[in-house]
Amino acid sequence: MKIEGKVVVVTGGASGLGAATASFLVERGAKKVIMVDMNQELGQALEQELGAASKFVKLDVTDETAVQQFFQQLEKDEGQLNGLVNCAGIGPSAKVLGKNGIHALDAFQKVLNINVSGTFNMLRFAADVMSRYELKNGEEDRGVIVNTASVAAFDGQIGQTAYSASKGAVVAMTLPLARELSQHAIRVMTIAPGIMETPMLKALPQNVQDALGAMVPFPPRLAKPIEFAQLVGQIFENGYLNGEVIRLDGAIRMQPR
Ligand code: NAI
Repeated sequence: MKIEGKVVVVTGGASGLGAATASFLVERGAKKVIMVDMNQELGQALEQELGAASKFVKLDVTDETAVQQFFQQLEKDEGQLNGLVNCAGIGPSAKVLGKNGIHALDAFQKVLNINVSGTFNMLRFAADVMSRYELKNGEEDRGVIVNTASVAAFDGQIGQTAYSASKGAVVAMTLPLARELSQHAIRVMTIAPGIMETPMLKALPQNVQDALGAMVPFPPRLAKPIEFAQLVGQIFENGYLNGEVIRLDGAIRMQPR
């Protein structure tokens, strides 16, 4: 799929990997990139920076009614949807048997709700709009959905039980989604990032960032958000990528702690 002229929604689009992806897609000629996020201040600032090919919408990806209305409005306004990049997520850590007691069930459920149900809630409505896109001459796919997991889906560390469970679910839904949506010419891929240099990590002291970077076999540094965005771009453009999870991690395998 060519990025040029396409309409794409990016969740978590106000910050980190989502913001880098939104900027990249605008730069590559997308007709409209709609960033959705709960962080209105950052989202509006990015919309200002990216200009007319972008739009920010404050939206909670777990809100069933609001998400449904968002896609109805999008179809009215834009008439088409071709891409969804799900980056919205949270990553708190807590031990099952921690210093402050047993892991709270609602804390576990919150991570699953945002990272799994939020991803699914967005993609089910997105797929519906994508399925109505009329293919133009030579076009092969109506839509591309890219979900964001984490290497924690495979080598989760102590304290990441909830986060790993949520990202494992994102990994596991990739193939059945790709299989089902193939009849609509929609591809589904998942990226499992390693340690990315997003605002969360940039807030850490430089020596801690350096130590984290040194754990990566090669290149021995944190990944840049643009490297995530470039992979999203490749997934859009390479029509044979489907139903797979790609680790973007410099060969890191996380240790227990
Ligand atoms: P970030 O915190 O910079 O951005 C995430 C965005 O999601 C925030 O702007 C937040 O407001 C938004 N968000 C959270 N809950 C939401 C909700 N219910 N509805 C709408 N928006 C919501 O994080 P970052 O680093 O860009 O992470 C993006 C994704 O990549 C996450 O899913 C994260 O788990 C995953 N990831 C990040 C890694 C890293 O090292 N930064 C490593 C592996 C995976």
